[in-house]
Amino acid sequence: MLVLNGLRKEVYHIFKVYVILVLTLTFQSELMAEIILELQNANIYQGKSLILGEVNIQVQKGEFVYLVGKTGTGKSSLLKTLYGELKLKEGEGTVVGYKLSEMTWKKIPFLRRNLGIVFQDFQLLTDRTVHENLKFVLKATGWKDDKLVEEKINDVLEKVGLKTKGFKFPFELSGGEQQRVDVARALLNSPKLILADEPTGNLDPETSDEIMQLLFRISKEYGTAIVMATHDYRVISKFPARTIRTETGRVIDNAGITF
Ligand SMILES: Nc1ncnc2c1ncn2[C@@H]1O[C@H](COP(=O)(O)OP(=O)(O)O)[C@@H](O)[C@H]1O
Ligand SMILES: [Mg+2]
Repeated sequence: MLVLNGLRKEVYHIFKVYVILVLTLTFQSELMAEIILELQNANIYQGKSLILGEVNIQVQKGEFVYLVGKTGTGKSSLLKTLYGELKLKEGEGTVVGYKLSEMTWKKIPFLRRNLGIVFQDFQLLTDRTVHENLKFVLKATGWKDDKLVEEKINDVLEKVGLKTKGFKFPFELSGGEQQRVDVARALLNSPKLILADEPTGNLDPETSDEIMQLLFRISKEYGTAIVMATHDYRVISKFPARTIRTETGRVIDNAGITF
């Protein structure tokens, strides 16, 4: 009897472990399976010149990826292809669920609404305050309810640590603060992907580090995938992450960094 009881306990225990294992594996694959960005055999052109050939990239939910390479090797062209500024004429691409080959001028705003874009030179409207800059984007992307608009603006300003600076004009802010506003703007539509083109390019090392900490925090806390073009190796070595390199017409994934 005792032996039987022991056996039953044993079987029950094995069953329990099995169920937990199956659940964990299912949950993990659910978490890992979300591909936010994919390019397959993509050829990227500027006019008639082929800039990058046979590009194959996959980025998962929440991943932080650097796009490194010397000036002129096609980092911006690659990012422009991803946000629909350059048309993908050869190969396949999917960005936050939108097929790049099917992009028309009419569809591009819908793609952009699901992306955040951060530029080197901030591209804020200089004739209005931070608050008005953010409001302008929300209104332009179809937000109607004024109360929700206010809530959203406060929310993104808080996320980038500029809660009290909404009333300032861009020229009243430091470079680092202007870049934070740019990041806040990128967060407005809660994107799954942020594309950042040399976001630290105009900043001194200390301010660059603050922006990097902010981007890494966003990626971690909100599960936002971030693809950041940079040729700032100091930043990459201080904040290591997966690296894709552009080099003489091609793209090398998980590239080692040569200094
Ligand atoms: N608007 C454009 N028209 C034609 N050629 C361009 C344009 N923009 C960039 N290029 C060319 O494409 C190549 C890649 O440039 P770019 O994507 O800006 O590189 P990176 O961002 O790495 O500096 C360069 O040879 C550049 O001269
Ligand atoms: Mg560039």
